Amino acid sequence: MSFDLVLFGGTGDLSWRKLMPALFQAFKHGTLPEGARIIGVGRDDLSDERYRALILSRFEEVDLAKRPSADEFERFSSLLEFVSMDLSKPEHYAYLKDKLAQRPADTVVMYLATAPTLFTTIVEQLAAAGLNTPQTRVVLEKPLGHDLASNRAINHSVAQVFSEKQVFRIDHYLGKPAVQNLFALRFGNALFEPLWRREHIANIQITIAEELGVEKRGGFYETTGALRDMVQNHALQLLCAIGMEPPINSHADAIRDEKLKVLRSLKPWTAETLAQDVIRGQYAAGAIGGAAVPGYREELGVNPASNTETFVALRTEISNWRWAGVPFYIRTGKRLAGRDARIVVNFRPTPHAIFNSQMGDANRLVINLQPKDGLELHLLAQAQDKRQNSNILAPVQLDLDFDKRFGGERVGAYERLLLDVIDGRLNLFVRSDEQEEAWRWVEPMLTYWKADAQGPRPYAAGTWGPSATSAMIARDGFCWAEEC
Ligand code: BG6
Repeated sequence: MSFDLVLFGGTGDLSWRKLMPALFQAFKHGTLPEGARIIGVGRDDLSDERYRALILSRFEEVDLAKRPSADEFERFSSLLEFVSMDLSKPEHYAYLKDKLAQRPADTVVMYLATAPTLFTTIVEQLAAAGLNTPQTRVVLEKPLGHDLASNRAINHSVAQVFSEKQVFRIDHYLGKPAVQNLFALRFGNALFEPLWRREHIANIQITIAEELGVEKRGGFYETTGALRDMVQNHALQLLCAIGMEPPINSHADAIRDEKLKVLRSLKPWTAETLAQDVIRGQYAAGAIGGAAVPGYREELGVNPASNTETFVALRTEISNWRWAGVPFYIRTGKRLAGRDARIVVNFRPTPHAIFNSQMGDANRLVINLQPKDGLELHLLAQAQDKRQNSNILAPVQLDLDFDKRFGGERVGAYERLLLDVIDGRLNLFVRSDEQEEAWRWVEPMLTYWKADAQGPRPYAAGTWGPSATSAMIARDGFCWAEEC
């Protein structure tokens, strides 16, 4: 099956950091279909040769394990071509059309890895040039807009040109093996399902912590912030995967229908919950791995008086029969104590205690997303007590390491998602109504912050965020997994 991948933003960060390495991995694994052309599009006037040289030089900055050898790059780079375009000029789309027509492909993927402000222009121009054929698929990178209105505007213009089944909205968290495993855990096994409800679960904690700061993306981050960058998409998608009802089958719309219901059931914000159940923070100078790092306001491209949040923690509920009253906590931030993404499901204590035990971290399922990928089941077992007090229980742990079990066979998130686009599989992509619902729920927080003179709470880089985060969860009588 031949295909063309047209990469708008072909010289940009995302292309060389994530997409080219993922395409190279697929090429190396032999999963990229034969007859592929990868056509980078950018403003610069580059020949194919210079584009290949640029991509090769960028590979120097990619993880060692994902870099090609000279010979491998030689073969991979024969797929790469470049087209210089001013994205507002119809004649440049006509040129692209001619180029694509020289070798008609079974599938043409238009990958929009540009600023979202250009999405409408690009899709309108593609349509005007007749480049929206039934063979075309369009991939939209996040952030898709910066609020509900801009998101709807983009979705509206895309819908004028492409049918929903041609549109692949990427949330790369859905491509992570650990997230697919979460679906497998819930819907491939009967074991947990009877327990997966309010009667047995006390609370659920979703953490996506990063050690990195904003790096060179200060300018972008200033207008984005953690709520738009991580919560509106990645964290809410995890919440959906944990909270959704079993879909009737594994088709894309069956899954997306159930995720949409979760988003629609999220407890609406009130003035009181906005004040009490949402914490925004911003990192100040501190230390990561023993090395001093600057605060957010000292980063390149950041306003020294910036109020942009680099951390969000919040408490919400899914108001339906399964989950009513169960708190879901979400926490994400940059420059935190570790790179650690996990979901902790805390079960309720036994209804009647016959042992002398401290619950500690028992009665808990931990779904590790990264850097570890696996499951930990924390239970209580009989402790070997030297004083022979046999009624003492101690925490023990069942530990499943998926990296060890599946290591070599696993593919990275972008590789998986790109192959899905080429194959036309929509399961791991976000539908427009899901995305709009997520924006609708997130917006009251943005509005509240605009009027809140207090600004984000500072936290030292290398910690778990503002102390108010612990106070928030303590009000419910719980604690974050690493605190208890
Ligand atoms: C991206 C955000 O979507 O996800 C980045 O824009 C963030 O700010 C990244 O660093 C985190 O992804 P991962 O896969 O490294 O957890």
